[in-house]
Amino acid sequence: MKPIYHDTIVVGGGLAGLRAALELNRRNVKVALISKVYPLRSHSVAAQGGINAALGNHPRGYYDNWEKHAFDTVKGSDYLADQDAVIRMTKEALERVIELEHWGCPFDRNDEGKIAQRPFGGAGFPRTCYSTDKTGHALLHTLYEQIVKFRQIAERKELVLYNEWLVTKMVVEDGKCIGLIGLDIKSGNLSAFKTNAVIFATGGSGRIYGKTTNALINTGMGMAVPYWSGVPLKDMEFIQFHPTTLVGKNILITEGCRGEGGYLLNNKGERFLEKYKDSEKTMEVAPRDIISRNITKEIMEGGGYEDPADPTSRHVLLDLRHLGEDRIMSRLSGIREICMKFAGIDPVYEPIPVQPGQHYTMGGIDCNIESETQIKGLYVAGEAACVSVHGANRLGGNSLLETIVFGTVAGENAANYTQGTTYGSVPSPTGRRPPRCNNKDNILDDALKCENRKIESILNSNGNENPSNIREELNKLMEENVGIFRNAEALKSALNRIKQLQERYTSISLNYKERRTNLSLMWVLELKGSLDVAEAIIAGALAREESRGSQFRTDFTERNDEDFLKHTLAYFSDEGVRLDYKEVTLGRFEPKAREY
Ligand code: FUM
Repeated sequence: MKPIYHDTIVVGGGLAGLRAALELNRRNVKVALISKVYPLRSHSVAAQGGINAALGNHPRGYYDNWEKHAFDTVKGSDYLADQDAVIRMTKEALERVIELEHWGCPFDRNDEGKIAQRPFGGAGFPRTCYSTDKTGHALLHTLYEQIVKFRQIAERKELVLYNEWLVTKMVVEDGKCIGLIGLDIKSGNLSAFKTNAVIFATGGSGRIYGKTTNALINTGMGMAVPYWSGVPLKDMEFIQFHPTTLVGKNILITEGCRGEGGYLLNNKGERFLEKYKDSEKTMEVAPRDIISRNITKEIMEGGGYEDPADPTSRHVLLDLRHLGEDRIMSRLSGIREICMKFAGIDPVYEPIPVQPGQHYTMGGIDCNIESETQIKGLYVAGEAACVSVHGANRLGGNSLLETIVFGTVAGENAANYTQGTTYGSVPSPTGRRPPRCNNKDNILDDALKCENRKIESILNSNGNENPSNIREELNKLMEENVGIFRNAEALKSALNRIKQLQERYTSISLNYKERRTNLSLMWVLELKGSLDVAEAIIAGALAREESRGSQFRTDFTERNDEDFLKHTLAYFSDEGVRLDYKEVTLGRFEPKAREY
């Protein structure tokens, strides 16, 4: 079968993917966007609290600029972020946010009519622009409107959407990405796609954990596909645990609650963060890694609440009552709704039971500041990527920013590449267009056949393993052994258990064996991605014998710049993960002990 050809392909319909597709299209490059869900159902829609940009709009005259934002980001990252990337992101933040405003994003306004800003962790003063507590929703709809508009402008080049398609394989030849294999979820048919450039913007991998704020779609498959093709995953051991998720359900309770003045209370009604040295000054707006650890310590020392029959019910309280109904309704109405619907609690009158939960993957597909990977023609952006702007710990409000800044960068560079002007920052040696994938059809056809055989063997398997059991065991082992506090013994055991799960995966069988809309088939394909990405997380965490940012090793409690001020690179191999390391780009901000 002849492959489907598009000049460029974006994989992922969240903020980074949509922004990249818009950039390609407005540079007159034809683009197809392949998304596992309808773009407006992407996990970006769940982002609540806001997007950082040093606009300095707050009427009380807090002085802000990109350099302060860059410093807070680098310090928050525990000095593992690449400083050139951070500087690019914080400088370009202003233009990107204003552009969104001009595209109609309904940001909240201050009394002067400017974009309102609220305090978030790291800065401690108002830098985070927001649309009530539904900022992701507002941004995603704004970008999608632009996509719809572009598709209606005849002179624009084509922008084709493949909704509800799962990319299962990337096809690489001579170090170049030449195409993809995608599964049309509705028909169950696989197709080969031929292209010049691909941008992966597939989001995070939170569902590897059990307690997570992430949507069910965030399996890590989008990281696994390039990883299987030889692209390393970088700094995967750094997993962010958001301090405040609704107990039991783990729905995000935005940092905006604390930014607006909410208190964290223990079972004596005390604002316990003042007991801990690293949060005594900044209290509820300390960085997330610090607050998550201090909540966990407080609970372990008996300061939390729990149902003795259910250890997963351990929590502290987030009190918003003193903010008053008007403020809660105007700034945090979504949180009130979530609490009422999912916990039967009205935060106007009662405190919210919260516990830390997995929220974000700081690591991701290794790329440089131009969003380029080690494979020509392959670009990455958003949570799937690791540029790295977050290092060992991300500041709240910087992930939405990363999606739009590096979505734009990826789109721009992929456009240049496909138009043959440059390969990223390196001029093309011949000055000609890169090869147009001629004679690649056989390679793509072989890859298609291979993927078809894989699917047939899953559908025809008579094995005795149930995929749900494997997923549940994966979630449990990640929670228990690769959580907020880690040590060598637990990590080694996790690695062994992952290998057993990978082995058991080969004996999976499905009850429903048809191809049409077989969501179990899709879950099984993605489960392989989750297992392999989890293995990279654990291997990186075990080898990193230090505590930095979100990784706290109880057996190596100090940060160790001499040995570990470096990025971890995890390479896939059939025998297991192979680790390597690369330098952190330092510069303007000298690594210092992280004091707050
Ligand atoms: O708490 C929040 O609203 C999350 C924001 C973020 O992860 O950046």
